[in-house]
Order: sequence, then structure tokens, then C-alpha cells
Amino acid sequence: MDNTSQILERSAELFSGQRLLLVNPTADGLTRSLAADWTLWSWDFAVIQGLSGQLPAERLVFSHLCPEVEALDAAIVLMPKAIERAEYALAQVAPLLALGKPIYLVGEKKGGITRAERLLGAYGATPEKLDSARHCQLWRVVTDRPAAPFKLDAWQQRYQLQLDDQQIDLLSLPGVFSHGRLDEGSELLLEERKALPSGKVLDFGCGSGVLSIALARRNPQCQFELVDVDALALWCAQQSLQLNGVAAQVYASDGLSEVHGRYACVISNPPFHTGIRQDTSIAERFFNQVTRNLLPRGELRIVANGFLRYPPLIEQHIGPCEVLRENNRFKVYSAVAPG
Ligand SMILES: C[S@@+](CC[C@H](N)C(=O)[O-])C[C@H]1O[C@@H](n2cnc3c(N)ncnc32)[C@H](O)[C@@H]1O
Repeated sequence: MDNTSQILERSAELFSGQRLLLVNPTADGLTRSLAADWTLWSWDFAVIQGLSGQLPAERLVFSHLCPEVEALDAAIVLMPKAIERAEYALAQVAPLLALGKPIYLVGEKKGGITRAERLLGAYGATPEKLDSARHCQLWRVVTDRPAAPFKLDAWQQRYQLQLDDQQIDLLSLPGVFSHGRLDEGSELLLEERKALPSGKVLDFGCGSGVLSIALARRNPQCQFELVDVDALALWCAQQSLQLNGVAAQVYASDGLSEVHGRYACVISNPPFHTGIRQDTSIAERFFNQVTRNLLPRGELRIVANGFLRYPPLIEQHIGPCEVLRENNRFKVYSAVAPG
């Protein structure tokens, strides 16, 4: 059981038998071991997959928006790693609670829970630390003021990128990768003008969809599919594609779990951080699995930090790895699967 779940279990008397909304849960057995009337909201598809079967589907919500649960006794928010995502979640949860009902915030000290007092102070005068154990803290605020209704528009950031051949309109939400700007690695990938092979292209870890939008316009011979694990990224990608008049399929996947087709090309600025720790395991799993999604002579084209030892992994799983472009921080790699 995760440390945050253990600290909640220690305070089971606060929660048992209540009607609870749990936001940003971990995929463990908390809702089985702590008997309550649970509804879970997660924007992480891996967590939803991990919890599937533990609750009826309508109680396990994967979305960029909080489900509108009525007559809640309390809401429990697990501290997201991005503080702005915590603010976004709390702004949706607070209007669901009647005055006097509590919001709990729980998380690891190194995961930002030390900001709990400030975060919860927006919803009640006296946030209090209830427990501290296993490097985690549990905080509570009793709501004492009506919360403003949540308006998604107020949290969406719309911005424009000017590439040398096109202008792109993008929509972003808090905690979506490179919120409001173009990542330097993605920029280097887009500087590469070598045409993509004709056919279906998979954009793995699409974020707000910037790579697919730019490349779809340059490669009309390609049809794009975009996947991401994050519901907010998927929403932003859908909206951004629409804003730019680019048609593509967008869907949730944890790694390649939901990707069943074979592609002429897979593009990515792959994720290499999970949670708080730096971790290349997602990228490694991806190189290992992507071979079954590449057509013969299909191309993998990715950008990554130059210090990450990706080439041996790419060569082990796909084929000879060419550096298409590099600067002092990033490298764009291309590898073609055997024919
Ligand atoms: C480095 S960002 C790149 C985003 C976008 N392609 C760009 O260039 O701006 C990596 C993306 O991978 C997503 N991601 C992280 N873990 C993932 C997983 N297990 N499966 C699919 N996508 C994942 C993140 O949500 C993030 O949007």
C-alpha cells in the first residue's frame, strides 16, 4: 500500500462509512481496505487501469473534469506533483461540498504537501495538519465560504507558436507538459525537415498535440494517431487539433497498452520522469514494445536529452540509430525497423 494510503488508513475513523470523493488516487487497495461510499477521479489512465474491477465503472472516472458527485461528506485529494494541478483539482472539488464539509489533502513531503496550508487556505480559515508519518502529511480544511463555480475556460491557456513555416494555436491546462510554451526538445524535433514515411503515424505521449499538428501539415501523406496517459493532455490535444483544422485520432494509453495498429512511423518526445523520481523505465519499456507497432521499414523518430543512453536500447530493439539533429542538450534519433 502506498504511504499516502497508509496515512489515510491510520485515520480510518474520519472516513469510514462516509460518501467520499478521492482525487488523484494511487492504484492500490485503499478503497477495499477502508469501507466507504467511494467515487474516484483520476486523470492518469495507468491508475484507472490499475484500479479497474475494484469499483463499478461509474465510480472510477477518467477525465480532465471532476465528476459531479452529490451529497458528499468529504473530498480527499492526493497531492499531484505539479502544484498548479493541485489548484485545478481543488477548484473543481470545493464547489461540490456543502459548507462545513472538509477537504483533506495528503501527500509526501518531497511531493509538495508542505504547501497544503496555502492551498487549503483558499477554502477555509483554519487548515490543520492532522497527521504526519511515513514522510507524508495529512491536512484538513473545513469549508467556511461558498466556493466559486468551476469554469474550465478560466483554467485553459490558449497560446500561439510561430515556427518558421507555420503558426500553431495551442490549448493547455495546468500540469500539461510545457504548459504555454514549446519544449526545447520538441522544437529540435520539429526543426528536422526530413519527410515522414507515408501512412499511419503514432504520436506517443502527445501532450498538447504540438508535434502532430506541425508534422501533419508538413506531411499530408500521413494520418496521425495521438496517445497520452494524461486526461488533461488528451483534452488539450483534441482541442488544439480542432483549432488548427487537423484531423486525427486521439486516445488514452499507458505506454502502448491500447495501441494495437502498425505504423509507418512513431514520433515522440518520450517521457522520462515518473512522479518525483527521474526514471527512464517508461522509455525503455516503450523501445521494447514499439517494435510490434512498427511496420517493416517503419521509422521511430524521437528526441531526448543527449545524456540519456537511448541509442544502445534503440539499436537493441529496433535497428541502427542515426542522429538526425543535435544541440548541446538534445538529440533527434531515427531508427528504421528491419524490412
Ligand atoms: C515530454 S512530454 C511530450 C509532450 C508533447 N509530445 C510535446 O512534444 O510537447 C511526454 C508526454 O508523455 C506523457 N506520458 C507520460 N507517461 C506516459 C505513459 N506511461 N504512457 C503514455 N504517455 C505518457 C506525458 O503525459 C506527456 O504528455
